[in-house]
This record gives sequence, structure tokens and C-alpha cells, in this order.
Amino acid sequence: MTINLAKSTTAPVMLVTGAAKRIGAAIVFAAHHQGYRVIIHCHQSEKEALTLAKKLNTKRDNSAEVITADLGLVNCPKQLEEFTQAIITTFGRIDVLVHNASRFYPTAVGDIKLQHWDELMLTNAKAPLLLSQALRPELEKSRGCIISLLDIHGLQQPFLGYTVYNMAKAAHNMMVKSLALELAPSVRVSGIALGANILPEDDSDQALSDRQKRQILSSIPMQRLGVPEDVADCVLYLAKSGYITGEIITIDGGRSLTIAGGLA
Ligand SMILES: NC(=O)c1ccc[n+]([C@@H]2O[C@H](COP(=O)([O-])OP(=O)(O)OC[C@H]3O[C@@H](n4cnc5c(N)ncnc54)[C@H](OP(=O)(O)O)[C@@H]3O)[C@@H](O)[C@H]2O)c1
Repeated sequence: MTINLAKSTTAPVMLVTGAAKRIGAAIVFAAHHQGYRVIIHCHQSEKEALTLAKKLNTKRDNSAEVITADLGLVNCPKQLEEFTQAIITTFGRIDVLVHNASRFYPTAVGDIKLQHWDELMLTNAKAPLLLSQALRPELEKSRGCIISLLDIHGLQQPFLGYTVYNMAKAAHNMMVKSLALELAPSVRVSGIALGANILPEDDSDQALSDRQKRQILSSIPMQRLGVPEDVADCVLYLAKSGYITGEIITIDGGRSLTIAGGLA
């Protein structure tokens, strides 16, 4: 994909779901720096998303927009259609769709509720599939690509106590491979499986215990967490790599070499 920084009205467009902060925001920032126009999707973090868009629009006029929506809308065909139209009409095209939005929390066997299943499957598998399907015609027009943020715990070794999340990411992993087959040659589909890149915020319902944090850190051969910019670089690499599809790239500092089941 060639990016012409001078002609911002023809610059390619990247949509990143759940992109107001953390890894999503790093992807948006890096893509914008490379000349993309960006659509920052968010749900609860609209304030942060608007601040990010304002910062980017100060650098380049009309280059960043915010769309606020609960991805639960994929359960309603009419709302999904409206969301899809809002995405397409924002800049008139879409070149790269990044599935970044996610929920992540433990679901110990014995305590698993239908609500956990619905919420974790929604963000980590169902919405990525239905949104990919909805945007497929536009991505075909642009010969674009889909990039999914996955988890090493959805590939081989599960994260202890997180059965539903592990299952959801495993489904998403298979979505990447299935769509890569079915949408070729017009749309490429790839994934990035993360290890521990940025820990959940301590004051959120996704927070890890101190023991979990110690176990994770001690299991990383690189002896440190990753940084969101590692992921952003990989997204941009996949976006421009016209002969890569169906590939899952692991970014985990070597963690998947050392973990066995839930034991770090
Ligand atoms: N952090 C890591 O080290 C790590 C490790 C392995 C895999 N990953 C994967 O990498 C991606 C980014 O990780 P992260 O830690 O930066 O993600 P995150 O902070 O846990 O979540 C990203 C965003 O998802 C959005 N979201 C959640 N539920 C939503 C819903 N129902 N509708 C719309 N948006 C919703 C939230 O947006 P709002 O705040 O706007 O509500 C949230 O800010 C995720 O797919 C994650 O599974 C991350």
C-alpha cells in the first residue's frame, strides 16, 4: 500500500476498535504518523478518544474521527448496518480494519455465568466476525486487510482461570485463518498474538493479582513486559505486507516458550 502524505483526502483509512487508550491508541498514533486517516472507535472512553482525535487533527486536518458504540450492536442487524454505514461514510473508504476491542477477566469454573460468556465472546470473537463480514465489500474495493489482536493463551496454552476468555480468543484465532482463506485474494487477514504487553489497569475489573503479575514477569525470557508500540509496529508491517495472509505473529518476549498450562 502506498501512502501519500501530501494528499490527505486520498490517504488510506484505518479503523481500530476500542482505540481510545492503551494498545489501540498506540496503533492509531503510529498509523496516523505513517499517513493514515484514522477512525478511533470507543465505547466508554469517549473523552480519551476525542482528546486523541483532537491531537491528531492538530497535526493534520480532517485526519482523525471518533465513532462511539457498544459492540453489542452486532446483535441487532439494523444497528450493525448503521454502524457500518457510519464507518464507511466517515472518510468514504476503509483500508485496514483492526480488531482490538476486548474484555478480559477470570471465569473460574463453578462461577461462569451466561453474561460472562456473552460479554467475552462478543468482544473477542463475535463482533470481530460480524464486523468483518459487514465491511467486507468495502475492504474488497480497497484491496484492504483485517488485523486481529489475539492472545498466546488462545493458541496453545490456556491462562489458568480464564476459560471463557481463552475460548473466545481461540475462536478469534480460527476466524483469522478461516477468513484469510475465504476472502483471498482481495482481502488479507492476519493476527498478532500478544503475551504480556501492558498489564490491565489496577483500578479496573480486569486487574491482575500481585501473584499473577509476578508469575507473568518471571515467565518472560526477555525479562520485561512489552510496550504498545511493539504491537503498533507489527500492525503497520502486516498492513503493508501484500503477500502475508492467514499468519499469526507472536509478540510475547518469548513467554510462550516457557509457559505450560497455567503454570508460569
Ligand atoms: N494488554 C495485553 O498485554 C494483552 C495481552 C494479550 C492480548 N491482548 C489483546 O490486545 C488487545 C488490546 O489490549 P488492551 O489491553 O489494550 O485492551 P483493553 O484495554 O482491555 O480493551 C480495549 C478496549 O476495548 C473496548 N471495549 C471493551 N468492551 C467493549 C464493547 N462492548 N464495545 C466496544 N468496545 C469495547 C474498551 O473501550 P472503551 O474504554 O472505550 O469502553 C477498551 O478500552 C485486546 O484485543 C487484547 O485481548 C492484550
